[in-house]
Amino acid sequence: MSLRLVLLGPPGAGKGTLAGVLSKDLGLGSVSTGELFRNEIRRRTALGKLVTRYVSSGRLVPDELVVKVMARRLSRRRLGRGVVLDGFPRTAGQARGLDAFLKARGTPLHGALYLDCPTPLLISRLSGRRVCQRCGRNYHSRTMRPKRAGVCDACGGVLSIRKDDQVKTVTKRLEIDRAKAKPLLEFYQQRRLLYRLNGSGGIAQVFQRFRRLLDREGWLNARA
Ligand code: AP5
Repeated sequence: MSLRLVLLGPPGAGKGTLAGVLSKDLGLGSVSTGELFRNEIRRRTALGKLVTRYVSSGRLVPDELVVKVMARRLSRRRLGRGVVLDGFPRTAGQARGLDAFLKARGTPLHGALYLDCPTPLLISRLSGRRVCQRCGRNYHSRTMRPKRAGVCDACGGVLSIRKDDQVKTVTKRLEIDRAKAKPLLEFYQQRRLLYRLNGSGGIAQVFQRFRRLLDREGWLNARA
């Protein structure tokens, strides 16, 4: 399936979780800007040093830099095979940058999927999130527990709380997202690419809703 989607939605809406299910169940690869930046920070690369003050404080990395980094990651091969972009674009400026880049490669998007979630649910998801320090897999202290407390099922790594999931930073991230979301959604709405998906409920439920959308839009047969 050569489906090209962007996953939009506030922090905690379940973008990364849905991207994981799409990869497992549909074989659709994904790129997460948040994950990418956290890896660079962990490895102390030049890019990591550049973005660390933004990521740890919950502010957005400047548009120009994000678009440049993503343009390098999105090879023709990857775009041709189909890909889900998790957490990118996050502003109308990034959306314009991505649009120009994809057009130049002749690989337009099939859709921009916005995961809708009420704020109390976002806060509850972010406050309970636990992340494997080694492989980055996500868990939740109530809804997605590992088999052994504090230990990753996949690699045995230690689970911890993400730095930017502290209450104060979460509030800031949600505020920033609210300010940026309107023009971003308008960008995709004007191009008839915007799809809203209810992100509440369990993961299986959200995936079921996605499957219905997939069938309705005929995306299973998407070609490069
Ligand atoms: P990023 O990592 O992208 O953070 P975010 O957008 O704030 O998104 P989250 O990862 O917090 O939430 P999510 O929607 O993926 O939810 P998840 O699936 O994990 O970005 C981090 C930082 O990097 C940014 O603040 C910024 O500084 C920088 N950055 C990244 N991209 C950028 C960009 N494009 N431009 C500029 N700067 C950028 O789920 C959350 C929790 O809920 C998990 O514990 C999960 O287990 C649980 N959960 C999820 N779905 C369900 C469900 N259906 N049922 C039960 N539990 C669920």
